[in-house]
Amino acid sequence: MRSRIAVLASGGGSNLQAILEHFEWLGDRRGGDVVLVASDRSDAGALERASRRGIMSTVHSTPKRPDAVKLGDLLDQHAIELVVLAGYLKLIPSDVVARYAGRIINIHPALLPAFGGPGMYGQRVHKAAIEAGVRVSGVTVHFVDEVYDRGRIIAQWPVPVFPSDDAGTLAARVLRVEHLVFPRVVDAIASGRKVLTAPASAADAFIDARPAFTLLSHEDSRLAENIELAFGC
Ligand code: GRF
Repeated sequence: MRSRIAVLASGGGSNLQAILEHFEWLGDRRGGDVVLVASDRSDAGALERASRRGIMSTVHSTPKRPDAVKLGDLLDQHAIELVVLAGYLKLIPSDVVARYAGRIINIHPALLPAFGGPGMYGQRVHKAAIEAGVRVSGVTVHFVDEVYDRGRIIAQWPVPVFPSDDAGTLAARVLRVEHLVFPRVVDAIASGRKVLTAPASAADAFIDARPAFTLLSHEDSRLAENIELAFGC
């Protein structure tokens, strides 16, 4: 059985597009179907991308738009099983967070817990990373709880920061990686290959504890050699 997925997006929706294309490529092997795209903004490009593919798209209520359908009711109406935040800027109401614990995920364009939290979105994230002088930034996919960017981390992937970077060039490099990482994580959660459990410790958070979503496996016997190469030793 494939999970019924809602994607929430406030912006252009390139991650939504990447998920849809990856699912198309997976065909019958995909773990879910995007059956609803919802936004807090009527001008979100994601809504247009959804309608073009015949996916139900809608604008839900926010404090500024109290007359629209409430997010929780909308998810109920469409029997949503997994909620995917793809560039969604509003805080998720606590009733929805509670109801979807372990079934609501977000992507953030940095290696959390660095450069996250309220106000850290868009180019601000990349500007902060450059100002901090980090050499590596990256992508984080995490479960969502009631605090911005704090929920348990599912997957991370590093992206280099070059001295010539500005927020725009770094954002573009990170976004390319987002488009590869996010659809695969969405599929893993939708199909049940990754499941949030009550963890004894952070490292035990998943039933499947293999380092499937890390760049290096624990058995990398060439690690010292590669580090020496990188530093020109
Ligand atoms: C992405 O950088 C994502 O990490 C962040 O918002 C941006 C959304 O981009 N949460 P798009 O709308 O998917 O193009």
